Amino acid sequence: MSSLQEIKIAVVGATGLVGQGFLTILHKKYIPADNVFAVASEKSQGATVPYGETTLSVHALSTFDFSQCSVALFSPGASVSSVFAPKAAAQGCWVVDNTSFFRMDPDVPLVVPEVNAHAIASAKKNIVANPNCSTIQMVMALKPIDDVSRLRTVIVSTYQSVSGAGRSGVAELQRQISGDLSVARFPRQIAYNVIPQIDVFMDDGQTKEEWKMVVETQKILRPDIAIVPTCVRVPVWRGHSESVAFELSDDVSLDELNNAIGSFPGVVLVRSLSEYVSAPDVEGRDEVFVCRLRQCGGRWYQMWVVADNLRKGAATNAIQIAEIIATDM
Ligand SMILES: NC(=O)c1ccc[n+]([C@@H]2O[C@H](COP(=O)([O-])OP(=O)(O)OC[C@H]3O[C@@H](n4cnc5c(N)ncnc54)[C@H](OP(=O)(O)O)[C@@H]3O)[C@@H](O)[C@H]2O)c1
Repeated sequence: MSSLQEIKIAVVGATGLVGQGFLTILHKKYIPADNVFAVASEKSQGATVPYGETTLSVHALSTFDFSQCSVALFSPGASVSSVFAPKAAAQGCWVVDNTSFFRMDPDVPLVVPEVNAHAIASAKKNIVANPNCSTIQMVMALKPIDDVSRLRTVIVSTYQSVSGAGRSGVAELQRQISGDLSVARFPRQIAYNVIPQIDVFMDDGQTKEEWKMVVETQKILRPDIAIVPTCVRVPVWRGHSESVAFELSDDVSLDELNNAIGSFPGVVLVRSLSEYVSAPDVEGRDEVFVCRLRQCGGRWYQMWVVADNLRKGAATNAIQIAEIIATDM
């Protein structure tokens, strides 16, 4: 039985936005700097990243020895994780991977601790996957509802910030706002616009981001829930918002739903209609916020769900998983 404070932790992708989130939270949890290894690409080797009042020097992933760590928090992109996460696991280090690469692997649990922490025990490769940011905040809001009455259908539209696309997404919005309206990272101009495409199109017409929300939610909650997403990139720096409509199997009062959501760990229910939360309000917060819950006729309901994509949507969730893994060491 250990805790995160007692083990050595690698942060792979430490110079990126999710990596910065990892380092901020680890420092807040009083993990000594000597126990944290910052790892990124060869081009960052020798650079430093902030860790509270101090800095950590960056190691190159290609030569990093994972046998000195018990847990590695990975966010270097899917193709890099596909190669290096199994290498780290083979060196005896548990991997919590933030990229999409392992999420649908049947031997890799896909975990939101408040929802399905029990799945960690089924890991067969010493790898646990962190879901997509949009999936995490949606299943956090849906789980207490599904516990009251089984969800039949979920129709969701997302409003996803540019930080969800990493440093280059933030840089592109900055550049466009300052007058250079050329397009590079996003498929359309993102300044003063909303873009109904995140990730590539698939053969059936949905985008890969939309597909991820469907299959990941079904893997975490239940395969028989119908999920109909539209994923949209918006010119917001940080924080994803979602308009979520859902149909239940039973007649349920709004009070029952409010009570279930309001008592679910990690979720803040905002009951006052006028005090709803929007993306900038949740920056740096680890909780998921549910606002404007209302009944729309029959067994259909609607809510507004907001979370910090770099915290609960990424780093917070992964560190919660790492804490559970550490307790079993
Ligand atoms: N941003 C979000 O809200 C979010 C949420 C959930 C999941 N994710 C996932 O997390 C991953 C990273 O996202 P991000 O937003 O942090 O991206 P980012 O800001 O672009 O950072 C990417 C990080 O990966 C590192 N990296 C790139 N190629 C590498 C290589 N060959 N070897 C080692 N390190 C390498 C970069 O290091 P260098 O500086 O050395 O290039 C950097 O530290 C992506 O897979 C993304 O889908 C992101």
